[in-house]
Amino acid sequence: MTDQFVLDVTRIRDEARQRMEGGPVTTTYGMDAERVIGILNDVIATEVVCWLRYTRHAIAAKGIDRAQVSEEFTEHAKEEMQHALWAAERVSQLGGNPDFDPATLAGRAHTDYATPDDLDLKEMLKNNLFAERIVISTYQEIIRWLGDHDPTTRRLMERILEEEEDHADDLTDLMGV
Ligand SMILES: [Fe+2]
Ligand SMILES: [Fe+2]
Repeated sequence: MTDQFVLDVTRIRDEARQRMEGGPVTTTYGMDAERVIGILNDVIATEVVCWLRYTRHAIAAKGIDRAQVSEEFTEHAKEEMQHALWAAERVSQLGGNPDFDPATLAGRAHTDYATPDDLDLKEMLKNNLFAERIVISTYQEIIRWLGDHDPTTRRLMERILEEEEDHADDLTDLMGV
């Protein structure tokens, strides 16, 4: 089989000179950057809401296994905030503005903050596992949608997904306590 792949470097050089203000977004970028920015801004909202929920649960945790569960929630909270920052950096690279607006966070998030006042440890674990299972599904869909069109955003989402799966696994282990 003959390899038909030929790089038209002259054309690419010409195109790269145009619209230099696009920074890393070139004519070969395979997605609608505005849509990707919108999706990433919802990921930011989701991650911030997850950070809020874990942080609140880490502080509110009571009961015999309190120390162990609280420590896990604190660690997850830290990672959710890191995910929000990674998504925000990518939004900025794509030429958008990271949206941390607290007025719209809950509405844009894939998961709920809503946690009643008197949750016991088991219910907290269940709430968080539910949220993790939602983001595992929504992030998988985003990754499939990105396909080969934006490998950098896809790798970022894959890295986040891997950690969400770890979170779900940790929570499942703790629920067996
Ligand atoms: Fe996360
Ligand atoms: Fe998570």
